[in-house]
Amino acid sequence: MLRDSITARSLLQLFLITSSLAAPSTQCPSNDTFDYVVVGGGPAGLVLAEQLTRHPHVKVLLLEAGPDSSLDPHVTTPAYFFETSAYFWNYASAPDPALNGRTPDLWQGRALGGGSSVNGMGYCRGASSVFDEWAEISGNPGLAWNSMFEAFKDTTHFQNDVHPKDQVAVNHTSFGNGPVEITTQRFQLSLDRPFIDLFKSTKNVPEIDFVSGYGIGITEQVDAIRASNRTRSYAWNTFGWLAANRPNFEVRHDAWVSKIGFTGKKADSVTYNDTLTGTMHTVKSKEVVVSAGAIGSPQILMLSGVGPAAHLEALNIPVVHDSPMVGQNLMDHHYAQLVFEAAPSMGTVWQFTGNTTGEQLAEAQYKANGGGLLGLADGNVFGAIRLPDSVFTGLGSYHTSLPADRPHFIYEYSTVPFQTQYQSRSVITPFMALVQPEGRGNVTLATSDYRDYPIINAAYWSTPADKAAILYAYKDYRALIGSPELKQYIPSELFPGANVTSDEDIWSAIQQTSGSFHHPMGTVAIGSVLDENWRVRGVEGLRVIGSPAAPKIITCHTMATSYAMGYRAAQDIIAADLVK
Ligand SMILES: Cc1cc2nc3c(=O)[nH]c(=O)nc-3n(C[C@H](O)[C@H](O)[C@H](O)COP(=O)(O)OP(=O)(O)OC[C@H]3O[C@@H](n4cnc5c(N)ncnc54)[C@H](O)[C@@H]3O)c2cc1C
Ligand SMILES: *[C@@H]1O[C@H](CO)[C@@H](O)[C@H](O)[C@H]1NC(C)=O
Ligand SMILES: *[C@@H]1O[C@H](CO)[C@@H](O)[C@H](O)[C@H]1NC(C)=O
Ligand SMILES: *[C@@H]1O[C@H](CO)[C@@H](O)[C@H](O)[C@H]1NC(C)=O
Ligand SMILES: *[C@@H]1O[C@H](CO)[C@@H](O)[C@H](O)[C@H]1NC(C)=O
Ligand SMILES: *[C@@H]1O[C@H](CO)[C@@H](O)[C@H](O)[C@H]1NC(C)=O
Ligand SMILES: *[C@@H]1O[C@H](CO)[C@@H](O)[C@H](O)[C@H]1NC(C)=O
Ligand SMILES: *[C@@H]1O[C@H](CO)[C@@H](O)[C@H](O)[C@H]1NC(C)=O
Repeated sequence: MLRDSITARSLLQLFLITSSLAAPSTQCPSNDTFDYVVVGGGPAGLVLAEQLTRHPHVKVLLLEAGPDSSLDPHVTTPAYFFETSAYFWNYASAPDPALNGRTPDLWQGRALGGGSSVNGMGYCRGASSVFDEWAEISGNPGLAWNSMFEAFKDTTHFQNDVHPKDQVAVNHTSFGNGPVEITTQRFQLSLDRPFIDLFKSTKNVPEIDFVSGYGIGITEQVDAIRASNRTRSYAWNTFGWLAANRPNFEVRHDAWVSKIGFTGKKADSVTYNDTLTGTMHTVKSKEVVVSAGAIGSPQILMLSGVGPAAHLEALNIPVVHDSPMVGQNLMDHHYAQLVFEAAPSMGTVWQFTGNTTGEQLAEAQYKANGGGLLGLADGNVFGAIRLPDSVFTGLGSYHTSLPADRPHFIYEYSTVPFQTQYQSRSVITPFMALVQPEGRGNVTLATSDYRDYPIINAAYWSTPADKAAILYAYKDYRALIGSPELKQYIPSELFPGANVTSDEDIWSAIQQTSGSFHHPMGTVAIGSVLDENWRVRGVEGLRVIGSPAAPKIITCHTMATSYAMGYRAAQDIIAADLVK
């Protein structure tokens, strides 16, 4: 419906604005040998490519399965982020035993920019102790918080919104001079401030930012949005555009990689389908770096013969190297949902999709100066808390022994109706995500054809402690957001509804509405599959970076970390390979 609401005229105007600053041209096929072929153009891959191509003698090719989406207003306009499905890998979980066999989606970005071209743009880093643990696990001191903090700074800068609103707790010194622009929301939803105040007093936590190393508290988060005209600032129109016209860099989009080729145990070529013409190509490379996200990366490795040997043999894939942990250790942030009716004062998505007056107003305001509801990022307010130890009595020590700065849950709300039956009403969707799950999922191949999606066992609430945690948090958040103080903004609970009170019925509501925050990590982890310099152990000339390389999942949304990991990996690779 939203697609139709963007008139041909406004599309043309947007095109005229953007075409004067058009994206660099990217297709110039050659069969040269490259120093590095980077597979996947998300935050990690594009940061790496930009850093490597600063060295003029280093020839880099980046292959991305998706298209260039940078002229599409669904991508550039923040509030249209939920209408970017044209650029998705439409992955879904395998039937999940904890969800009575439900198969929640696990969409991933498929365009230049990867997840950063389709995501909610929320920018956060979370608890610092996670990164110190990464350094310990991997033996790479560059992953410790102090060093990652510099990488977070070097990939971003902070810009005040041109119409700044009231006080927001953001520590400007936590940003540097990097390409991605970070700014605040231009104004608040009427629920935001009352919710923050209630959360602070009820949970006894401070109002903080999630960019300076803190894990626990509440925030109005900052977003990867350009303050001047409220458009998406993402990996392609920042790092990608910086590098794209360098003579030693080539970007090929619509280039779907099917396989990495080996001579013996040395990776030395990449084969892809140019899906614009339907022709296969093989390029030679001295080194291959896979940055294809946490689902695509293990899939490409396994298709190429690097993975659990028995699994590959069962699919008649010749084994190059038996690497049992490829595809294992899948972690994600899973949530369950509530639904509340929203008062007319609430600037929900419905106010510019279902309300004709509101829609006209929003379009006019955005056109004028990037203002109004279309310039806002959704789900900007969230709190992160630790649950009481008593929740886990008799269920082991995993959750209670996490370092003190780690939250167990994020409580957030979206103005997008996640469930189809509420799409014609003005509602908010409060959801609670378990951010340090005990359970681990896995990614395996369904077939040996690269065009078939892999099997994703997402492992929802898969240990007794994870299940106890979501049950507690569901009841806890429901009580908090249903408080009398908030009734004037969200007058009534629509889901699960007043008749749902027993633990059994609440568990059923959780099962019906569990979903993914789209933050998968860990499937080709540094310190197990990878050595401390991102190299796949047991073979030569092959590295993996970005979300799959994370050994443990972080406590906050994951985009910022993929930029910083790409940056850290670039420094490590340059130091090991290029500066001798
Ligand atoms: C819908 C959604 C909402 C999100 N919201 C937020 C948010 O608000 N805040 C936040 O911090 N994080 C968010 N995230 C997560 C964030 O976007 C990711 O953590 C981040 O993009 C991961 O970066 P990456 O570079 O590791 O991988 P990706 O961004 O996944 O990039 C991998 C790239 O590799 C390409 N690729 C994969 N397989 C192949 C192949 N065979 N051949 C060629 N190319 C291939 C993909 O098309 C993709 O472009 C969201 C993600 C999604 C999907
Ligand atoms: C928004 O501003 C940026 C930076 O000035 C510019 O590159 C981009 O083209 C603008 N986008 C639109 C849609 O106006
Ligand atoms: C690249 O190689 C293919 C087949 O190997 C060939 O058809 C094509 O002409 C080559 N392209 C260039 C630019 O050399
Ligand atoms: C802001 O960040 C700096 C590090 O960049 C830190 O030293 C300082 O304590 C932070 N201040 C607040 C108020 O969080
Ligand atoms: C290459 O991609 C095209 C277009 O998607 C498809 O029709 C074709 O079957 C693919 N070829 C191979 C060999 O995978
Ligand atoms: C529709 O939008 C207009 C303009 O923003 C607003 O005044 C009105 O209250 C909205 N209607 C409803 C039912 O929320
Ligand atoms: C993957 O995870 C599922 C669910 O936890 C489990 O049943 C299965 O054995 C795992 N598969 C592999 C290959 O590890
Ligand atoms: C609660 O009521 C709704 C609406 O009548 C119904 O669909 C649902 O099954 C009921 N749930 C329980 C647990 O009784």
